[in-house]
Amino acid sequence: MKNDWFEKKVKEFSLIVGYQKPELISDALKLDSNENYVISKKFQQDIISNAQKISDVREYPLGGIERLIDQLSKFLQIPSSMIGVGNGSDQILDLILSNFASKETKVLTSNPTFGFFEERCKLYSIPMTAIPFSSDMTLDIQEFSNQSKDNDILYLDSPNNPTGFQFKKNDLQKLVTSFDGMIIIDEAYGEFGDYSLADMVKSQENLIVVQTLSKSFGLAGLRLGYFIANKKFTDGFNRVLQYPYPVSTLTIESGILALKQSDQMKDAVEIIKEERQRIIENIRKYDAFEVFDSKANFVLFDAHGSYKRIYDALAEQGISIRKLGKIGKHEGCLRVTVGTKEMNSKFLLAIRDLLG
Ligand SMILES: Cc1ncc(COP(=O)(O)O)c(C=O)c1O
Repeated sequence: MKNDWFEKKVKEFSLIVGYQKPELISDALKLDSNENYVISKKFQQDIISNAQKISDVREYPLGGIERLIDQLSKFLQIPSSMIGVGNGSDQILDLILSNFASKETKVLTSNPTFGFFEERCKLYSIPMTAIPFSSDMTLDIQEFSNQSKDNDILYLDSPNNPTGFQFKKNDLQKLVTSFDGMIIIDEAYGEFGDYSLADMVKSQENLIVVQTLSKSFGLAGLRLGYFIANKKFTDGFNRVLQYPYPVSTLTIESGILALKQSDQMKDAVEIIKEERQRIIENIRKYDAFEVFDSKANFVLFDAHGSYKRIYDALAEQGISIRKLGKIGKHEGCLRVTVGTKEMNSKFLLAIRDLLG
């Protein structure tokens, strides 16, 4: 009999739709991927060119990860022994799922949740229970508590992508202390929200808080994510899973330089929060839209039956936002990233021209 396992596996892969990247519209105003254009282009150019000056990529980055983790430790005020890094937080989530979960491990999350996480659960056949958002795009903490006994892993992105929702700190803390499986709190947008649970890791052995330099630091292309967790998990992850050189020398050096200038990140975050409010208030004026509150660097709104027309009309004018369609009872969801003041004004003007 022919040994055709490889052929079968390839066929299986060919049937998976996988994570959907946004459409590539050339020269577009990119408001589709929750990137950060408020932090100056000079910020990233300077760190990259300085990183390049001190790097020698003929060598492996021996000791590099350790220096990066020490810098993260200073920035976070958390011991180095509780910090690990990855090639984007995507990779950290992937490594956790592929090594700790299986067909027998049940994941509890929200619907919607971060698309990449959901896709990875599907890829590894990890069963998932997803609690839906209510029609005002909020979640009921009680529903999570009710389900917690039957699940092994709790994954929540806080704030949530794509809704922008974040639980009240007290509520999430209570849920975390009552859940006895593994808890992953994904704070990719944490700096734009009201709080972080990072400190809770010191007393909560089963909590892993995942963060990234992609959003608040505006370094999505650098691919640098990190997590905070108990010492034993962190040691195993760093020594066994993430061994020996998971991120490049240039990423390490650039990351260290960026963390040393975190004031620039904080200034950008403040502007983004103000601009988020301006976008929300402006588009709330249109009866055609239902606009949801957001604690992230994007705004979700339901444009009902006209969402495709609005998406296409914006794309024609070179403005790219994210077309999501149905979320729960909301049929026509669109998500727009908060860009620079100028970018946001262009978006708002285009909306006014379409609906005004
Ligand atoms: C909730 C959430 N987690 C993680 C990520 C991935 O971030 P990274 O660029 O660090 O891989 C994203 C990116 O969009 C996200 O929305």
